[in-house]
Amino acid sequence: MRRMFALVLLAVPVFLSSAGRAADTPTMSQPSGLIANVEHRKTISLNGTWHYIVDPYDNGYYDYRHQPRKDGFFQNEKPKTPRDLVEYDFDKSDTIQVPGDWNSQKKELFYYEGTVWYQRAFTYRKPAGSRVFLYVGAANYLSRLYVNGAPACEHEGGFTSFNCEVTSQVKDGDNFVVIYVNNQRRRDAVPTDMTDWWNYGGLTRDVELVEVPNAFLEDYFLQAPKGASGVVDGWVQVSGGTLPVTVRIPELKLEQKVQPDAGGRGAIHFTAPGLKLWSPGQPKLYDVELEAGGEVVRDTIGFRTIEVRGRDILVNGTSVFLRGICMHEEAPARPGRAHSEADATTLLGWVKELNGNFARLAHYPHNRNMSRVADRTGLFLWSEIPVYWTIDWENPATLANAKRQLAEMIRRDKNRASVVLWSVGNETPVIPARLTFMTELVKTAHQLDQSRPVTAALETHYAEPNVKMIDDPLGKELDVLGCNEYVGWYERTPEDADAISWKTVYDKPLVMSEFGGDARAGLHGSADARWTEEYQENIYRHQIVMLQKIDFLRGTSPWILNDFRSPRRVLPGIQDNYNRKGLVSDRGERKKAFAVLKEFYAALAAKWER
Ligand code: GCU
Repeated sequence: MRRMFALVLLAVPVFLSSAGRAADTPTMSQPSGLIANVEHRKTISLNGTWHYIVDPYDNGYYDYRHQPRKDGFFQNEKPKTPRDLVEYDFDKSDTIQVPGDWNSQKKELFYYEGTVWYQRAFTYRKPAGSRVFLYVGAANYLSRLYVNGAPACEHEGGFTSFNCEVTSQVKDGDNFVVIYVNNQRRRDAVPTDMTDWWNYGGLTRDVELVEVPNAFLEDYFLQAPKGASGVVDGWVQVSGGTLPVTVRIPELKLEQKVQPDAGGRGAIHFTAPGLKLWSPGQPKLYDVELEAGGEVVRDTIGFRTIEVRGRDILVNGTSVFLRGICMHEEAPARPGRAHSEADATTLLGWVKELNGNFARLAHYPHNRNMSRVADRTGLFLWSEIPVYWTIDWENPATLANAKRQLAEMIRRDKNRASVVLWSVGNETPVIPARLTFMTELVKTAHQLDQSRPVTAALETHYAEPNVKMIDDPLGKELDVLGCNEYVGWYERTPEDADAISWKTVYDKPLVMSEFGGDARAGLHGSADARWTEEYQENIYRHQIVMLQKIDFLRGTSPWILNDFRSPRRVLPGIQDNYNRKGLVSDRGERKKAFAVLKEFYAALAAKWER
């Protein structure tokens, strides 16, 4: 069955779930639609040193009757007379760096789960005829933004970017911004309260002011549509009017003046006979200019097609094998959340070193540098929302939250050629309520972006003693099947993998989205000794024997590129709060299994890319 991935991007109304707020929290406004390509707009960075106040009782937000305070910390008050009672002072409080999680910056916040208030001053002069937005790359998990004491917006979700308009809140001269961030885990949240990663809290990515004209180009999408070579299709979305947008691809000498309709939407269509398609082997990016309202937005976009045909994944019409590895957003060789271009370059450089062409960004959307670097260096990406393990499946607010995070993920990275798969979750249970919930997410992903296949990491079971079966009912809704298995670590012995075969009830491609085992870097012993590098190496050797026999396999992404922090992993001297399944340690040391996977991928590259 050939699934055609054409291009339709609909406005799907998804609203912030009420779950993120206590009943009596004053309703702050929702973020506005994410401005496309913030990194190439006119921005004023607010990164750097911020003051912060740790507020475990939300005392800066609620009074003693649990009512929202009018004089909350967001007012950044100072005593006006010696008699005034003000029991906080940002200027006299400690400082912290933004971007960056608080756990790895402050020893006393290593395990902290609660509220931290951030504050910084900034001077500003608003250009005439412009609008100003406050952009946050990510704030884990619930955040509330204030400028000069006035509420701007609130956001729930620790891994997606958002912005809110602050044109009326900013003033010429001295300003201050206060951001409330609370990272408490909740049963009804996305992710839920149980995960296998560190709950890094705070402003973990860039914070910027974004200046745009009164009427501006808010969003756009350009891609090579299915089955029509030498064509670029897309659309523009303007805000504040129906101003025309001129779209140019200078290298192809293409220019089109788009007149948006009453809703601000306008269609782009280019015939581009000389169009070079993007692929890992040829990561061709085109400079694209979009001019509207006096602003020229410059982007670099790769054009490629992707489709699923039977058990094949076709990129630009050619069947591909995704030689990958999973990764958390764990900084390379330093504790804490990765966030910078340098982090992305290092992490994705390790994938290339493995002879890989693919990375599964687990289990949540990663920072914007990852897809930008992957576009440039030529890597496929799997991008995922944190619908992880046992979500509150029957809670409508939880579903709305998951849908919104899915929409935010797609909205930010839809123009990134490297992103080839949207994943709607990981290892969710085979129960009716979950199937309903996840089917809704698959439908939403297809509504929002029909140019990419949708997947999820499923679990499997033994249909016979040595036959693993993929028949999860969610597989019927997915375009590409992901499946996690741990033969040799959580089940059986590494050698048992040699005798295991796989079956599936679906005529669809499979990406083995997790396998592997732990090893403490530098711990050596026999291949039978768990936690040694030799044991991990042995798992990979026997996994490869098994994987090579699966004729519907079109990708592998073992768990995981580098060791990552998790409160679940407490074995002293071995784990010490790290999940040790990395092929690279938390200190950047390569373990023996790294070479095994590298060799396997070299052979796969020779076979698939001859
Ligand atoms: C699971 C899960 C990962 C987890 C891993 C492990 O499959 O998807 O998030 O870290 O296994 O147990 O190490």
